[in-house]
Amino acid sequence: MVLAVRVQTVNDPLVLDDDLVLGGENSVALAALPEAAFDLIYMDPPFNTGRAQTRARIEVSHDPHASGPGSRTGFGGRRYRSRLLQSLSYEDSFTDYLAFLEPRLRRCRELLAPHGTLYFHIDYREAHYCKLLLDELFGREAFLNELIWAYDYGAKPRRRWPAKHDTILVYVREPGRHHFDADAVEREPYMAPGLVGAEKAARGKRPTDVWFHTIVPTNGREKTGYPTQKPQGVLRRMVAASSRPGGWCLDPFAGSGTLGAVCRELGRRYVLIDSNPVAVQIMRARLAPASDPVPPAGA
Ligand SMILES: C[S@@+](CC[C@H](N)C(=O)[O-])C[C@H]1O[C@@H](n2cnc3c(N)ncnc32)[C@H](O)[C@@H]1O
Repeated sequence: MVLAVRVQTVNDPLVLDDDLVLGGENSVALAALPEAAFDLIYMDPPFNTGRAQTRARIEVSHDPHASGPGSRTGFGGRRYRSRLLQSLSYEDSFTDYLAFLEPRLRRCRELLAPHGTLYFHIDYREAHYCKLLLDELFGREAFLNELIWAYDYGAKPRRRWPAKHDTILVYVREPGRHHFDADAVEREPYMAPGLVGAEKAARGKRPTDVWFHTIVPTNGREKTGYPTQKPQGVLRRMVAASSRPGGWCLDPFAGSGTLGAVCRELGRRYVLIDSNPVAVQIMRARLAPASDPVPPAGA
């Protein structure tokens, strides 16, 4: 059964009944959400890269007479014309990044149930500063894990080690009381299956704190075109381990709604917030029950 999804703005009256997609500034919604209601909060804020995050959708068609901007020559000298269909973008530059995060993280701690867990997703540039901030807000004893998501995609500079990982800092609301179901997480192949018995090798191993996982494949079914969309496989592990079936999960920087897609798949409830109207359109299309007609993203 697919539950209803309600799309509204952060200023509308807020009731946790249907799954929710909220358009607008997340601090407004966070203030209105009920305290201690969430099993899991996944937070993937802009990484403060100092530049806008943009992804273009382009349509390419064969045209022997193509010339000028947008035209190109392909294999066998065939001429092609390309047309920009849509440019998806959001700002990613903050003068005081930690001051932006601090009140939102503080409030998220209050929204977690006593058995609740925060997954805070960040890149190598800000991870260490954010760890200090989280220690201050949650307490060092509430720090559960540092997860490394390693991928292998994109250009590789030759003057330093190519940076191909993100960091996910995991904190619990109350140390020792957190929900964690290790058996609910899908197993993965052993790195050296020859070193363990055949039975163990066939069963696979429980993932550790280093996760090797591809980015969202550029032509895969999961792809929405939203910049910095995260793979469902990475979030699936978090949701499976740290939330109960039917429990509520929250993403205050939801983008394309990856957390919602995973929650729907695993039978969890969700609240997704994003200030970018294009993100809200994409979530509406991605999460609508198949029977609901939806306007195209960006329309
Ligand atoms: C890194 S992206 C999230 C990507 C998402 N995890 C996914 O898989 O698609 C960060 C998002 O935060 C949103 N955002 C930034 N500041 C915000 C704010 N103050 N309130 C709500 N959303 C915000 C941006 O619009 C952007 O979509």
